[in-house]
Amino acid sequence: MQVLYRKYRPRAFEEIEGQEHIVRTLQGALASENVGHAYLFCGPRGTGKTTMARLLAKSLNCGKYQKRAEGQLQNIPCNSCHSCSEINEGRSLDLIEIDAASNRGIDEIRNLKDSARVAAAGGGRKIFIVDECHMLTKEANNALLKLLEEPPQHVFFVLATTEPYKIPDTILSRVQRLDFKKISPEQIKNKLTGIAKKEKININEPALVQLANSASGSLRDAESAFSKVIAYAGQGKAINLETVTEILGIVPLQVHDALINLILSKNAQEAISQINDLHEAGIDLNNFLKQFIRHLRAKLIGMIGEKSYVVVASATPGQATPDVLINMLNVFMRAANEIKLSPVPQLPIELAILELTK
Ligand SMILES: Nc1ncnc2c1ncn2[C@@H]1O[C@H](COP(=O)(O)OP(=O)(O)O)[C@@H](O)[C@H]1O
Ligand SMILES: [Mg+2]
Ligand SMILES: [Zn+2]
Repeated sequence: MQVLYRKYRPRAFEEIEGQEHIVRTLQGALASENVGHAYLFCGPRGTGKTTMARLLAKSLNCGKYQKRAEGQLQNIPCNSCHSCSEINEGRSLDLIEIDAASNRGIDEIRNLKDSARVAAAGGGRKIFIVDECHMLTKEANNALLKLLEEPPQHVFFVLATTEPYKIPDTILSRVQRLDFKKISPEQIKNKLTGIAKKEKININEPALVQLANSASGSLRDAESAFSKVIAYAGQGKAINLETVTEILGIVPLQVHDALINLILSKNAQEAISQINDLHEAGIDLNNFLKQFIRHLRAKLIGMIGEKSYVVVASATPGQATPDVLINMLNVFMRAANEIKLSPVPQLPIELAILELTK
């Protein structure tokens, strides 16, 4: 089976989940022929930076865009003209993608400089996407800066990064910065539901919710996890919450809730034995602790009225007031900092439990 995140990369602006502010900005620029020569796409991984860069590139060179009626952007990019097809098949000479994580050197940027001077093969625009651009060396940045200072009319740059604070000010002052946001669990679920339908995968609602909630805002991660679940579950098998939690090594939320209840009822012995059971079952306690903290936080946020962080927060135990949860979070946060250095992985969690049940 083809990896889902490649197969379902959006080919039209309408297929993008979230990032409405960016779609609006880019479509506005396209409509008024005002597309900037250099953009910086910032944001967490798997939120659509590369996808959006390709959509912009495709639009700029789309045959339909060149011939459109004023202000009309419907079906642009068209995905059927010569240029769109070339880009979709990854063989366009006018869209050059450089991964700065593997090509950090000045040579690539020099080549880029030579290549920028030459007119686009298709006679249209030439678009350079520099991914992970915070990885460029100083020399490469200087060479890039020269290009950004006087970009040829037909040349456009999209720099993408997950770490914008590492980009030199000189570069920042030459680009239009657009910030991508994490995708909400609701939006992730929306896309996964669509994929399940198209792939004829039999998966129930709680399983989709779990996949969406555990992707921490990255659609790529959600789609990868979904691919993995489908592969392991086997062809045609129904997928439910247990399938997902088991295959992804996620501890079901009921276990998280049980642990909270044991701590609230000051049952240190049972709580510690539950942690040891997880450890013996092969659960990575570092990961579990991260999930547990996320779960506590979701409960706290849910309690103070902001519901959008998780699709469904399970019921919160009776005695858990915001103050109690804040205290628990603080104690477990400390455990999370210590767990990586601990010779016994259970120990920081056990100490946290003992402190909270004193
Ligand atoms: N906003 C989004 N809407 C729909 N799908 C997305 C979105 N962001 C990411 N994806 C999915 O994740 C995959 C990787 O996205 P990508 O654009 O490469 O992320 P980034 O460059 O931000 O790391 C895409 O192929 C697509 O399937
Ligand atoms: Mg990318
Ligand atoms: Zn086209």
